[in-house]
Amino acid sequence: MMFCVFIIRRFYPCPGQVKHVGATICHIATCATMWSIGNAIIGTSRCAFKKYTHHRVFCRYFVGSFGFGADFESRRFGRVYQKEIDLRLKKREVYDKMKDEKHEISRRDVLIGAGKVAAGAAIVSVGASGIITPAQSKATQFPWGYKKLDLQEVGDIAYNAWYGKFCCQAVAEGVLKPLQKSIGEPYASLPLDAFKWGHGGAVGWGTLCGTMTGAGIALGFIAGHEGEKILNDVIYFYANNKLPVYQPKHPKASFKNVNQADSPLCHISVGKWMKKEGVKFFSPERKERCARLSADVAMKTAELLNLWVDGKYKPSHGSNVKDNGITTQENCGECHGDDVPTPIT
Ligand code: HEC
Repeated sequence: MMFCVFIIRRFYPCPGQVKHVGATICHIATCATMWSIGNAIIGTSRCAFKKYTHHRVFCRYFVGSFGFGADFESRRFGRVYQKEIDLRLKKREVYDKMKDEKHEISRRDVLIGAGKVAAGAAIVSVGASGIITPAQSKATQFPWGYKKLDLQEVGDIAYNAWYGKFCCQAVAEGVLKPLQKSIGEPYASLPLDAFKWGHGGAVGWGTLCGTMTGAGIALGFIAGHEGEKILNDVIYFYANNKLPVYQPKHPKASFKNVNQADSPLCHISVGKWMKKEGVKFFSPERKERCARLSADVAMKTAELLNLWVDGKYKPSHGSNVKDNGITTQENCGECHGDDVPTPIT
């Protein structure tokens, strides 16, 4: 009999084993039966024992008849499945924790609004176990920096982006899209469609020409506060040059006139040019003019940034507010005629 128990324990490491009486008797009884009726009846010895169903049938039958059935079954189930249950609970715990963290992040995204980009980039960098701390997020290292750009590429991107996305996003894309490739995160996570609104001087209100809003957005990410000096020069360039000068490889339309706006305002800039060219706002010529203008502004921005990153950039334009005593530019007469009011200083 002992030999049989040994055989069974050897081949079938029942979690119940002989640690309690029920199992012992079960094993002995099973073994005895096995011994007497022969392995062949329930299948081939080892594998038949390893099969839970066979074993349970035997145990139920024999242990039941000894009156140990309930005790044995419960303990056996208990031991076998407790491990499994523990494991599952542990998995669930980890899963729930991950879910909570994700939820927490998405909730934060909504709450921080404009900062969604930063959180978005952070999600990418967080592993399964991670709780984001701002210090770990690459997006929080501000500004995001710059790698020299190819001006022609910048211009081409901006020109093509204008058709469909308009001036503000066109310039932002011209500068930022190549950086998404060359630098990667956090630029790569930046949704450029978020900058479309600047078109027409902010959704058609004719204020700051969207090309410069786009340049300002890009410069902010790239250079932070230092970007203001560059933007100041970009605006000066825009207002004081005959534009556009960019020539697309595959023009979508053609026109005759270039024009100096003498103003960064969309309304004034496009109005003067439309008068000169003799076309309506929704004409192919006006669209082409604004697309090329976008390329010019994007290229100017990148040109100055290329100098800046080498430490060779020197601001060329001063402060309008300090010079004029009010937020404006020098050509007061254009709007006020002869009766220019004196700002309170
Ligand atoms: C793009 C057009 C434009 C330009 C350029 C401009 N202004 Fe104005 N400015 C306005 C408008 C519009 C108002 C509001 C006028 C009103 O409501 O009567 C205004 C108002 C003012 C006011 C407030 C007092 C007032 O009488 O309304 C002052 C001061 C002023 N401008 C000074 C200047 C000076 C100085 C310059 C040039 C350095 C200048 N502006 C250039 C359009 C312009």
